[in-house]
Amino acid sequence: MTVTADNARQSSQVLRPEAIHVEGLRKSFGTLEVLKGVSLTAREGDVVAIIGGSGSGKSTMLRCINFLEQPSAGRIVIGGEAVAMRADGAPADRRQIERLRQSLGMVFQQFNLWSHRTILENLIEVPVHVLGVKRADAEARARRLLERVGLAAKADAYPAFLSGGQQQRAAIARALCMEPRAMLFDEPTSALDPELVGEVLAVIRDLAAEGRTMILVTHEMKFAREVASHVIYLHNGVIEEEGPPEALFGAPQSERLKQFLRSVG
Ligand SMILES: Nc1ncnc2c1ncn2[C@@H]1O[C@H](COP(=O)(O)OP(=O)(O)OP(=O)(O)O)[C@@H](O)[C@H]1O
Ligand SMILES: [Mg+2]
Repeated sequence: MTVTADNARQSSQVLRPEAIHVEGLRKSFGTLEVLKGVSLTAREGDVVAIIGGSGSGKSTMLRCINFLEQPSAGRIVIGGEAVAMRADGAPADRRQIERLRQSLGMVFQQFNLWSHRTILENLIEVPVHVLGVKRADAEARARRLLERVGLAAKADAYPAFLSGGQQQRAAIARALCMEPRAMLFDEPTSALDPELVGEVLAVIRDLAAEGRTMILVTHEMKFAREVASHVIYLHNGVIEEEGPPEALFGAPQSERLKQFLRSVG
């Protein structure tokens, strides 16, 4: 029997372990229910893109995954380890949350670098002072990563002296310094001037190509179509449609998604 490429890909998908699994996630702010039961699975090497209109709950979903927001209900499993949650969604074990959060590299729209530290210090701060990595080792890794994102020359500069694109690349390197299991990006290019977007997307594309697991909230549809293995369209806190990028962008089913794709050009 011949094994077709499709079969081979399917079976390798089955074998790849789940890096992030979210089930029935709900989140309310007071009386406003922002997430109404959303589920997502990212296997190792997957790039899951989350798209949707403003206020649809994309950031909230990402923030719940690493407990920057406390979910109201649902189940979150990181690397096969279920997050211990009380019935109201509160974490049952703070230390577990800290540990799991460190395994997820988060990159925000606003780069959130420490302004009073050099770029190198930004990268080694947590590895050295929280994780107990030897300074020389952390520094060597940080310099390798800065080289990789094209910032070797900026190690000793302060964030304010970098362009937005450079700051975001530094923030990505900082997240990578933690050797995360997966990367979470929340609109990493939306605060950038148009001419700086490409250099940041190039870094993310490069990470995708090396097989990094990522969840990427983005408004860059062309980019999502190119790098994602799976796309989720969120509308009003519900997954309105999801699937492989060719299907979602090439042959959208729901009227809302069609309208959304028209509206973003
Ligand atoms: N801390 C909060 N307190 C109250 N409401 C909030 C809070 N954070 C988010 N919301 C509300 O939840 C809804 C979803 O917000 P969220 O930031 O997840 O949307 P989004 O899809 O990321 O939008 P955007 O594309 O504009 O970033 C919005 O109505 C928002 O006002
Ligand atoms: Mg958002």
